[in-house]
Amino acid sequence: MKALLTAGGRATRLRPITWTVNKHLIPLAGKPMLQHAIEKLVEAGVSEIIVNINPGEREVQEALGDGSRFGAKLVYVEQQGGPLGLAHIIRCAEPHLGNEPFIFYLGDNIVLGSLRRFIDKFNESGCDALLALSRVPDPQRFGVPVIENGRIVRVLEKPQNPPSDFAVTGIYVYSPKIFDAVKSIPAAPRGEFEISDAHSWLIEHGANVGYEEITGWWKDTGTTNDLLEGNGLLLNERSASSIKIEGEVKPGAVIRGPVSVGKNTIIGSDVVIRGPVFIGDNCRLDSCYIGPYTSIGNFVRIDGPDIENSMIHDGVMVTARERFTNTILGKNAVVETSKSLLPTGRRMIIGDNGRVEL
Ligand code: DAU
Repeated sequence: MKALLTAGGRATRLRPITWTVNKHLIPLAGKPMLQHAIEKLVEAGVSEIIVNINPGEREVQEALGDGSRFGAKLVYVEQQGGPLGLAHIIRCAEPHLGNEPFIFYLGDNIVLGSLRRFIDKFNESGCDALLALSRVPDPQRFGVPVIENGRIVRVLEKPQNPPSDFAVTGIYVYSPKIFDAVKSIPAAPRGEFEISDAHSWLIEHGANVGYEEITGWWKDTGTTNDLLEGNGLLLNERSASSIKIEGEVKPGAVIRGPVSVGKNTIIGSDVVIRGPVFIGDNCRLDSCYIGPYTSIGNFVRIDGPDIENSMIHDGVMVTARERFTNTILGKNAVVETSKSLLPTGRRMIIGDNGRVEL
């Protein structure tokens, strides 16, 4: 089976981070978000992956290459016309998918556990489409199925009054009948070709749309809080073999729990780290506490603060003696103690859509 993986779209809700990085390349637990998706697919036995990208995109190809280092074969397909919706992505990718079943995976979704059982259920049930459902507190943010007598009879996209507390997650397995559906539906009022309309079209035209509930953890990384939560859960899910100390830990430093320390990183003697924590390569940490669910990129300098449940990207410097929680610092951000005594006050240079909570 092949996979179709999404890496396009606009990601406006994750600005300012997404002004300078494609959302799907945001590092979570030390790897770009999309790499987690690719590894999940490969683990489930799917190695031929069509990656949908925005026209003119280069960053994703540069970051992931041909996929061989993940055991995958990646083929990049530009979404001609731009991000016109999930059904439009399938239309654009049809020539690359052939007349065979495939798995459609939204690259901004994070799921714990294996994808294998969705593929198995699709194969065993003989249905035309299998949707992975998850119970959520806010179904109005998602596609929501209308279920009657155990069968999906319609799917509503972001309904104001959701008929159930199920969300249709971003994992779908399809027979080639989906190609008829995506070519037949009109654009929705928000101008996009909605995948939920394609699902409803399939049902109206006699296809069997089945489902499987995700009982483990699933997240659509639509907001910065989702990112932090996803980062924490992926830190927990790392295999024991991937948790290594490759850098130098000075005598006196305290390291507890699952903590990875990358190459050429130096952990000073007055540092306390409580895992799960990921620290990349070429970093220097002194006089600080790094608490659970924190990921730190490469070339990061930290001297002084307490940091917990946070994501610190490449090239960041934090030398302010403050306590940071639930914080995301984008590439090359600097947080330091003011050197001038007067006038007193906070000095901030924050990019568009930045956010500070003091
Ligand atoms: O996450 C599950 C939800 O995903 C479903 O419950 C909804 O039914 C489905 O419509 C979708 O809703 P979102 O509003 O969350 O979709 P979003 O625009 O965030 O796009 C999902 C992924 O597809 C993301 O990786 C970006 C990418 N994308 C999106 C569009 C609209 C593209 O590559 N091209 C596009 O045209």
